[in-house]
Order: sequence, then C-alpha cells, then structure tokens
Amino acid sequence: MNESFSEHTRNILGLQLPTDPRWVNLAEIQLEEILTDHAYCEQKAATTCISLIQKNPDKELLVEELSPIVTEEWGHFRMVLAELKKRDLKLGRQRKDIYVNKLLQFQKKDGSPMERFLDQMLIMALIEARSCERFKRLSEGLDDDYMRNFYRKFMESEAGHYTLFITLAEHYLDKKIVRKRWAEWLEYEKELMSSEEVRGDRIH
Ligand SMILES: [Fe+2]
Ligand SMILES: [Fe+2]
Repeated sequence: MNESFSEHTRNILGLQLPTDPRWVNLAEIQLEEILTDHAYCEQKAATTCISLIQKNPDKELLVEELSPIVTEEWGHFRMVLAELKKRDLKLGRQRKDIYVNKLLQFQKKDGSPMERFLDQMLIMALIEARSCERFKRLSEGLDDDYMRNFYRKFMESEAGHYTLFITLAEHYLDKKIVRKRWAEWLEYEKELMSSEEVRGDRIH
C-alpha cells in the first residue's frame, strides 16, 4: 500500500524521487530533532512569505494570497511548538539548511527580474511539495496513531501551498515558461535528493 501511495504522491507533486523509506524509521527515533527542524521549516515558510510580500507590493494577487499563508504557517509553527512542550521536549537551535541552500544555488543569479521572480515561486513550490511528501510519509509510516494524524494535517496544508505557488507563477508569467522551468527544477531536486545522505534529524 505504501508503494502505491508514494507513486500517487509522485504523480500529484511531480517529484521525481520518492523519499527513501528508511527515512521514516530514522525520524521516528529522533522526535525532538525532527520536531525542532519542522518548527523552523514552518518559521521559514512564514518569514519567506512576508519577505515576498515586501518585495512585490505591486503584485496584488500575490499580496492577497500570501497574507493568509503567513498566518497559517505561523500557526503551524505554534502547533509544533505546543507538541514539543507537551512532550517535555525542547526547541533546539536551527540547523544549517543544506537542502534549501542547495536549491538556492540553482536560482538564476543574472536573470531578468521576472526570471528571478519565477525561480522564487518555484523554489517555494518545490519546498512545499517535498515537505508535503515527507509529511505524507510520516502520516503513513509512523507507529504512533496520534503522530500519524498530526502529520496528515500538515500534509494537507502543504499540498495546498504547493499548488498556490505554481498558480501565482502562472498568473504573472506565460504558462509554457513556467512549465519548462518547473521541469528543470524537478530534475535538479531529484539529483540533489539522491546525492544527500538519509538523515532522520531533519524534514529535508
Ligand atoms: Fe506549513
Ligand atoms: Fe506551507
């Protein structure tokens, strides 16, 4: 059943490489680390949406759509924080984000403003898509009923966010250009995922 689910996920999200199944087992035994890392993923999602609004005040649809996402992501941060507290676990320090840093390297540094904007939308879509896939893995693979349900809720939210960033890209740019660049991003992310070691102390 897990395999058909991951195939399903891959089709929805377009991700080219499903998460290594060993990852869930590793994450399960490092709950404090995984919750800490998860909390910062939510914080960074909120912070990035605020910064996108600040940089693009002329893009009305973006401002309108991302404003509630800031609230939602911050709500996610608080949910994870509450879960840590409930378990008497501590929010640790933020780790170096290798996954996001490597994604940033693929951005077109000398592109036009619209090309840079497109990359910003697609990088967000990709992070949301991969987070969604990982949450789905946790919601299917964890032993604990409560935690499976906890992650299912996150999985559903992030699926909506992934599509929103693609929709925003397509609103401001030609669809064909968006699709072409999205395919390049998916290919790059596949290489990135396959070159990284499987670690259970982080979401990505
Ligand atoms: Fe979130
Ligand atoms: Fe999100």
